[in-house]
Amino acid sequence: MWKGRFQEATADLVEQFGESISFDWRLYSYDVAGSIAHARAQVTAGLLTQEEFDQIEAGLKQIEGEIERGEFEFSTALEDIHMNIEAELTKRIGAPGAKLHTARSRNDQVATDTRLYCRTEIDLMIELIEQLELSLLDRAEKYAATVLPAYTHLQRGQPVTVGHHLLAYIEMLARDKSRLQDCQKRLNVSPLGSGALAGSTINLDRQQIADELEFAAVSTNSMDAVADRDYIAELLFDLAMVGAHLSRMSEDFILWSSSEFGFCTFSDAHTTGSSLMPQKKNPDVCEITRGKTGRLYGNLTAILTAIKGLPLTYNRDLQEDKEPLFDSIDTIKLTLKVNAEMIAAMKINEEVCEAAASDPLLLATDLADYLVKKGVPFRQAHELVGKAVAESVSQQTPLNELDLTQIDTAYEDDAKAVFNLQTALKARTNPGAPSIENVKSQIARWKDLLSK
Ligand code: ARG
Repeated sequence: MWKGRFQEATADLVEQFGESISFDWRLYSYDVAGSIAHARAQVTAGLLTQEEFDQIEAGLKQIEGEIERGEFEFSTALEDIHMNIEAELTKRIGAPGAKLHTARSRNDQVATDTRLYCRTEIDLMIELIEQLELSLLDRAEKYAATVLPAYTHLQRGQPVTVGHHLLAYIEMLARDKSRLQDCQKRLNVSPLGSGALAGSTINLDRQQIADELEFAAVSTNSMDAVADRDYIAELLFDLAMVGAHLSRMSEDFILWSSSEFGFCTFSDAHTTGSSLMPQKKNPDVCEITRGKTGRLYGNLTAILTAIKGLPLTYNRDLQEDKEPLFDSIDTIKLTLKVNAEMIAAMKINEEVCEAAASDPLLLATDLADYLVKKGVPFRQAHELVGKAVAESVSQQTPLNELDLTQIDTAYEDDAKAVFNLQTALKARTNPGAPSIENVKSQIARWKDLLSK
């Protein structure tokens, strides 16, 4: 492509070191779409005849079909997807192919392809997040009223329901979706026409190109347009955050499925056995999900580090953006799919959850609230209940079986009534709290939102 200035061929090692075709071939359909829009703008500008355009378009479509069917042979010597397609086009149709790159650089071309790729993939990932939300919602509905201890510091805290717990993940995933939508909006800007870095003396209609590619706007600074990879860093952050959420959920489920907790059971199809210990049924999907979060963070760190020292504008370092990007997207898509399927088949062991939730200590806070309602200042109530708990521990008597009136006069005979889980949950009616009514209305809200 640059043979004019060079006397020597590129060294084999440099070719091997610098090629990106082994991974950026995946951008082919966006590259073709960008080239067709660019060629059409050349017709508008009188640089290509309609016949030449038709030849270019047909040639590009033919190449696209061959790549799609795995029939196209890529050449490492042609470095990347842009040059592979253009060189083959020119080989096939001659002169019109050689006109295609007028007023364009691979710098604005790769920026365009990558933005189009991200735009499409974001839609696909949002769809998959919704599938996972629906799986969680289905389980939340089935176990809306199943009581369960909720934890802080992994120590039993207060009672909630399984439905309430599962809805918490839907909240996280909904924020993830909105972050992705936001990122998609910000990246939906056309760099084509920025050229290598300073536009071109041949002014094609950038708005026409942007309209054809359904970009919401054209970029407003040619230098920024070819150097900007913010949208990749942003997207990789968004995916790292999805990973963080899935990883936290996995950790809960790993604990829940252990014999120590026993709160849930995964289907045989979504667990694996041990090659040595015959009794094992391992939550590998959860563990791999947790593990994959490491590479999502790694990919984010890779792009942030790659761009931090780059002078304007394009530098070849930027070619390092693609593998982390592709990897995070592939990773998230598969992770979302497998988790949606696994959760849809997850069984909650209701008796185990309810037995764990019947620990009267889960209602120690409610007992303090009871005292507050009798006029005791909260700090004092906290101390009084603390004393009762200490008593219960030393006497080895459950808190609800102690004679509380013996401990302090603030306790009256009705204190025992606090230890009713159903009443305790029923009282939690404030927005966001886990009364069964609230959980059910949240389920209805999510159902409605997710059906839109
Ligand atoms: N393969 C390159 C990349 O991914 C395309 C842009 C090359 N531009 C250049 N001036 N060498 O970044």
